[in-house]
Amino acid sequence: MASPSVKAVRGTRDLLPPETALWARIEQTARDVFTRYGFGEIRTPIFEATELFARGVGEETDIVSKEMYTWEDGERFDAVQLRNHWMRKIGDRIEGSLIEDDVSAEIEYLDGSPPEVVHFVSRVDQRVIAAVQAKLSNREGLLGMGRVVVQNPAGDKPSEVTPEGIAVEYVGGDFHRSSQSLTLRPENTAGVVRAYIEHKLGETGALQKLFYIGPQFRRERPQRGRYRQFWQIGCEVLGPQSSGSESPVRDAEVLEMLATLLDELGVKNWRLELNSVGSSEDRKRYNAALREALAPVKHKLNEDNQRRAETNPLRVLDSKDPADQEIIDALPRIADYLDDDSRAHFTAVLAALDACGVPYTVNPRLVRGLDYYTRTTFEFTVPDGSGLGTQNALLGGGRYDGLSEMLGGPKAPGIGFAIGEDRLVLTLQAQAATDIDDPHPEALWTKKLDAYIAPMGAERNAAALALARELRRAGLSVEVGDGSFRLKKSFEAADRVARHIIILGEDELASSTATVKTFATGEQVKVPRAELVAKLR
Ligand code: HAM
Repeated sequence: MASPSVKAVRGTRDLLPPETALWARIEQTARDVFTRYGFGEIRTPIFEATELFARGVGEETDIVSKEMYTWEDGERFDAVQLRNHWMRKIGDRIEGSLIEDDVSAEIEYLDGSPPEVVHFVSRVDQRVIAAVQAKLSNREGLLGMGRVVVQNPAGDKPSEVTPEGIAVEYVGGDFHRSSQSLTLRPENTAGVVRAYIEHKLGETGALQKLFYIGPQFRRERPQRGRYRQFWQIGCEVLGPQSSGSESPVRDAEVLEMLATLLDELGVKNWRLELNSVGSSEDRKRYNAALREALAPVKHKLNEDNQRRAETNPLRVLDSKDPADQEIIDALPRIADYLDDDSRAHFTAVLAALDACGVPYTVNPRLVRGLDYYTRTTFEFTVPDGSGLGTQNALLGGGRYDGLSEMLGGPKAPGIGFAIGEDRLVLTLQAQAATDIDDPHPEALWTKKLDAYIAPMGAERNAAALALARELRRAGLSVEVGDGSFRLKKSFEAADRVARHIIILGEDELASSTATVKTFATGEQVKVPRAELVAKLR
């Protein structure tokens, strides 16, 4: 019986043509827009030290506390440790030792026992036995024995002898090289700021405007618009204060750029919501006020929120639990805890948006799920029914003026955002499908080829490929059929993928022409080869 086929892991998926053409179009448009605004691309590693996210994104956030893919890396068996341990253990019996490499040594004994070839391994199997045998057979003149020393975390175990005559000795202990905790990036801002610090980008004195496009990983419950591997298109603007990184103009420029990008992509009815969560000082006072307000009612909240009410009360505000909403609505508002600077900053951001004509809504409850935010925070949403199910946030972002210092770097205020590319794709597909003005919504992500060449008979295959080469080199998009196809099958295949079919038979080749049918009009003509490119354009 065939074994069950291996499937993509839950929460991950394959992206296939023609849909990938829409992904490519989105990414190309984003690159074009970002370039016009002076951004350059940054690519950071897919995995980072776990500590980066714990410190940057925050231990108490959902992302860090329950959604990260984390593993111990470098926790590998260390043969040298086992060897040193074993040799110390039997030290007074050893006359001499020749250490060959990490995993093997030759030992001579004081008590007259025959010399041994010894291998140090974490597990014994047939390959290890064969390796010891090979070593022994290479030692001409050395009448030796073979021994395998195996680490055994559960403690010493009686030795045995294999049928091949090799001694196997089990030594208690766990011999590992020190390990490092690594995590698949759940977001890219922390990685960008780490790179900013590591490469001393601040020392250039210039404002850094960076964008990225890439996969992120969160172990969330998969549903429409929410995946365990998803893609973000993001930007970060940061630099020393002297580069203007703290100016409200930066916030407004980033928001105006997003409005432009969504408009150019054709996203309809997007809505910008924004808020100020204040400086870290403001937040301290606000958190204290929240704790106080939550104390008498927190027993009515769900379990997670009861804990957060103590540890990180701001997180209670973005609870999605409907049962908690009444309590949340009655809590104090951050706007009343902003100091003069934060308030003036936010007012200036709004004024610049007004000047640019970018519409927005101030949402005093918008706090976002990551701890690094200060002052301006925002989300762009689309209305229900735009293809996202309950996940209506297309993108989110905000200011993170203290993040660089949290990661041990210099002061480097910044602001950025990340678009959920999966959600953008779903939105564009859903909006196109319901657009009555657009009878061919799929044209957004599928573009037909210029021509399909149908060779008549296998003898014409090579000539068809040569013609395809000529047309492709002239910049046309071309597919080549096969001479074994019947004419009807060629027409059907061509109609699916191309605007024209080129029929290449004996006649056409003899007269240096091609028969071209245009599917849109039904017109069929014989065209001299020299005019073919112009005809197909
Ligand atoms: P975030 O709000 O966690 O922010 O994610 C940004 C966007 O990524 C969300 O609005 C959503 O569209 C998308 N997204 C998040 N999780 C998933 C998922 N499981 N499946 C599909 N899409 C998802 C950040 O990541 C910040 N780093 C943004 C930022 C940049 N702030 C400042 N600079």
